[in-house]
Amino acid sequence: MKKTIAEIIENARSRVDDFRRLQKLGLIYRGDFFPSVHYPPITMYQPITDDELFETYTMPEDGRLDVYAHIPFCRQRCVFCHYPLKLGTAQGDEKDRYLSAMEREMDIYMAKLGIDRIIARSILVGGGTPTYLSLSQQRRFFEMMAKRIDLSTCRQYTFDVDPNTIIGEEGRARLQMMRDYGVDRLTIGVQSLDDQILHLMNRHHSAKQALESIEETHRAGMTVNIEFIFGFPGQTVEGWAEMIEQACQLGVEEIQLYRLKIDAYGDYQGPVKRFIEKHPELVPTVEQTLIMKQVAIDILAEYGYTENLRRVFSKEYRHHSRYAHNQCCRLLDQIGFGLTAFSSLRDRFALNTQHFDEYYRLIDSGHLPINRGLVRSPEEQIRWAIILPLKNRSARRSDFLRVTGKPMERYFRAKIAKLEEAGLVVEEKERLVLTKLGAFFADEVAQQFQSTQYMPYPADHYEPGPLHPWKDNVP
Ligand SMILES: C[S@@+](CC[C@H](N)C(=O)[O-])C[C@H]1O[C@@H](n2cnc3c(N)ncnc32)[C@H](O)[C@@H]1O
Ligand code: SF4
Repeated sequence: MKKTIAEIIENARSRVDDFRRLQKLGLIYRGDFFPSVHYPPITMYQPITDDELFETYTMPEDGRLDVYAHIPFCRQRCVFCHYPLKLGTAQGDEKDRYLSAMEREMDIYMAKLGIDRIIARSILVGGGTPTYLSLSQQRRFFEMMAKRIDLSTCRQYTFDVDPNTIIGEEGRARLQMMRDYGVDRLTIGVQSLDDQILHLMNRHHSAKQALESIEETHRAGMTVNIEFIFGFPGQTVEGWAEMIEQACQLGVEEIQLYRLKIDAYGDYQGPVKRFIEKHPELVPTVEQTLIMKQVAIDILAEYGYTENLRRVFSKEYRHHSRYAHNQCCRLLDQIGFGLTAFSSLRDRFALNTQHFDEYYRLIDSGHLPINRGLVRSPEEQIRWAIILPLKNRSARRSDFLRVTGKPMERYFRAKIAKLEEAGLVVEEKERLVLTKLGAFFADEVAQQFQSTQYMPYPADHYEPGPLHPWKDNVP
């Protein structure tokens, strides 16, 4: 590295000044960090049935979809995890039951769409731990997917995995099977390369095993994305910086960073909240967490990794997640199968139940396991078509026009002018894009375009400055 870690940490402190300045302008709230993963935020959807959602839906012209499948089983619960799961080693029968239900769900879904095969643009299989299946169950999963999904134009097939499901003899056999069925990219939940932090996180692998899993994946001919969490209790700025430098030397194609989210994303509140109440002395401050983020960005840049998709750093653009890019940047249609999975279909969003019993019951009765969602109004569609791509990369005028039928330059003029004045966004010929400062606070900038009913916090949690999100809020 050209700069020392101490210099990088010193430089990163200016982000704390930015944070305070933007807080005074009204951009940043008082409350837990609130990522803009979807719009409206997932917890804010109202009950809806599959019939209501699909009544007026028509397939995209090219007939292609991005596909997600969710497997909600894990060996044990990580402290930071907010996902509904079945845990433990004695879930063999339950996993078979689940796979049967998901197979049925896929058939019900295809019947609703009026298709007998899904032409995939990309596939992502997540969890839970989708590799926490026996080898025969894993094969069964691949077979049921292959029977229904046309892979001939699929550009990427990704699995989210846990390090110790892909090491050792069984792990190697699993990797080979994945490769045989077309998987070409793995996202490995490494979380930290510090064994003490991994222990605090209740992860069931060591740093050494994580490194082994990366080597095995490369050996099997797949690209590797590794994920880390920052802001977790016990982490220090210096320790984090050293770890990121180590990560940069592993030869992985992508590195993805998540800031710890303490409050639940969905219905289930993970143990992290109680953990933090018990160990307040271990929790990094907001200032330290911001410094950690900037330090990571700067170290990654020294090693040639740039943020090609929000919070995902890669050396080559082509390695980023197609699934995320298509759905969040290009606003293309995507369908999801399994517990908690969602579908994003042009002007509507469908969320599957978070409860196993309801999942099985709805599918048994011939319905999709959807229990919440929304067909967006024209106004909400405009907001969504800016928020998602702006947060993740940039809001392109051509995509906006395709999904709203209207020109983007007509909307949010006053809001965009103020964000531009604050140095957070730039309007280019083809797109609206975040500056470096805007990208650092991407979640908060994106929230500027949310309607007031979907803001993460009430109005009095923001300073009454020019960027107070209630101001200039009409598109
Ligand atoms: C969708 S989750 C899938 C979890 C996956 N089973 C795993 O642990 O590898 C993807 C990533 O989100 C991150 N993550 C999970 N819970 C989080 C939380 N509470 N705050 C921040 N990041 C979190 C972790 O880095 C995780 O690997
Ligand atoms: S974070 Fe991932 S591995 Fe850990 S319990 Fe949650 S889903 Fe399982």
